[in-house]
Amino acid sequence: MTAITSPQPLDLSHHYSYASKNRNPSSVKSFYKYFTIPGIANFAGGLPHPSYFPYDTLEATVARPQRLQPSNKDDTKADRVLIPKAVQTTDPTRKIDLTTALQYGVAEGYPPLVSFLRQFVRDHLHPNVPYEGGPEVIMSCGNTDGFSKAVELFTNIWNPDRDWIQQREGVLCEEFTYMNAIQTIQPRGLNTVTVAVDGQGMLASGKGGLADVLENWDFRRGRRPHLMYTVTIGQNPTGGNLSIERRKEIYALCQKYDVIIVEDDPYWNLQFPSAYEMEARYRGTSSESTPYNRSYNAEGRSSGYAFLDSLVPSYLSIDTEGRVVRLDTFSKTIAPGSRLGWITAQPAVIERITRITEVTTQQPSGFVQSIIAQTIIGEQLKENGAFALKKQDIHSWRMDGWVRWLEGLRGGYERRMNDMCTILEENKFLFSEKSALSSTVDHVNDWEVVDRVQMYDFVWPKGGMFAWVEIRLETHPLRAKYSEQKLSKAFWIHLTKKPHLCLVAPGQIFAAGPKSIEKEHRYIRVAFAPMDAEDVSPFTRRLVEGFRAFWKREDLDGLDDDDDETLALGSMQLESGINFVGPGC
Ligand SMILES: Cc1ncc(COP(=O)(O)O)c(C=O)c1O
Repeated sequence: MTAITSPQPLDLSHHYSYASKNRNPSSVKSFYKYFTIPGIANFAGGLPHPSYFPYDTLEATVARPQRLQPSNKDDTKADRVLIPKAVQTTDPTRKIDLTTALQYGVAEGYPPLVSFLRQFVRDHLHPNVPYEGGPEVIMSCGNTDGFSKAVELFTNIWNPDRDWIQQREGVLCEEFTYMNAIQTIQPRGLNTVTVAVDGQGMLASGKGGLADVLENWDFRRGRRPHLMYTVTIGQNPTGGNLSIERRKEIYALCQKYDVIIVEDDPYWNLQFPSAYEMEARYRGTSSESTPYNRSYNAEGRSSGYAFLDSLVPSYLSIDTEGRVVRLDTFSKTIAPGSRLGWITAQPAVIERITRITEVTTQQPSGFVQSIIAQTIIGEQLKENGAFALKKQDIHSWRMDGWVRWLEGLRGGYERRMNDMCTILEENKFLFSEKSALSSTVDHVNDWEVVDRVQMYDFVWPKGGMFAWVEIRLETHPLRAKYSEQKLSKAFWIHLTKKPHLCLVAPGQIFAAGPKSIEKEHRYIRVAFAPMDAEDVSPFTRRLVEGFRAFWKREDLDGLDDDDDETLALGSMQLESGINFVGPGC
């Protein structure tokens, strides 16, 4: 009987950029492995002496993983986490101390943290990556950094004054997307190639879908794009979750056209099953059927956690060829200021990213890596043979606690999403008082004649931190007099004024290409993440009041001055304005 073997990942080196092909291991970093040889006299490294690091310990008070309840009230208990100056162990994957954390280190990241994440990734987050040997990981300084390294690895700068158009490379992305990513590729002269989206995310087929874009590529624009940037869960800004079925269709196209997928997934644990139920409850039917009534690992290895098994899995779970580079970040699970994340991909790709890291960021901050390592792993606190904290004070999260924390975060944001979207749902329409009144005069039943005007529409966000709201500008009474663009701009300014004082993110900051620019003015993104849980409902009521007041306006006086935008923003900072713009944009 022949044993079933997994496929080997493809060699993707034909996609490496000129510079990335030519990188050699850092001559300095290659010495690092010798530093750990017990008793070695180290004349080689230009390392500062650890006794001159001014920190003797690093200590924090940290939430217990149970703090955030998946479905009801949170608790506030906390534990201490302490990182001592030095611990005695020769095992680098168990050594969490300031002597190593604050020293120069290897580009892969702080060994205890990398080793924890490797286990998390391989055994729990993506237990069924189909290619032989499974993926490798490297720490990053967050997904912005991860993407910039992927772009450096897979794309060459194109200079119109020097290069042929045939050499111009391109990056595929959702038509509305996270603009920092687009601003990473645009200065390199690359084509930004947008793919149409629906409530889930990128379309595989149909007009403007991936197949359409790739099949009908116009080579006068340059090379057919070989890289895709995609946000698959809680898509920023549209809030969609890409189903496994859609992923398979898109992956097949990427195989056909040899496209590398960079999956930027900062919101992966924020998937909201209740959004499907709520949408169906209000609208009779959900925009799509729930993907949460199954275990995604039922036919393979379980993640060991019902929560993780229930989540729509990464592209990595269908990546037979090793063409997926996945970006994860602690920005949304710990804190954005930690500037910490990790990249997961086939080992050869991680090796090239390691070479880029060695000469760019070198490694993420040791303060951050060690405090997060100690919070999650922190099993050994022996300082010169003694425990630095009393044993009963030591409560590191471990794998169970980390997964529990992620689930608790989902609960917290899902409740906010439900609060916001319930109010948005119940207030989409403006009922015209005039016609209600005239109908009473005519003694006609009010319900039959009352005018209903829909001011906005939205799809319940199935994940992430935002709702993507389409402004139904065509229903505004002043539409005959003003263009949609003008009304949209006036609306944005109107919202920033008293008594509304709401700051929303305008669609234009997410429009990645000409087709999206045509309709950008019809959208705003409203974030439910940044506000306190108890503020979400009153703030959203204020926002819908703002909509109503705008629809009742008989003119746009005071709303057409560009300077007003800046003034309005200034006054919001002074007063109690509501910021719906949200995290990191
Ligand atoms: C889609 C997306 N990618 C990346 C980021 C930034 O991630 P990081 O803080 O890890 O750089 C954000 C933040 O808003 C985001 O929405």
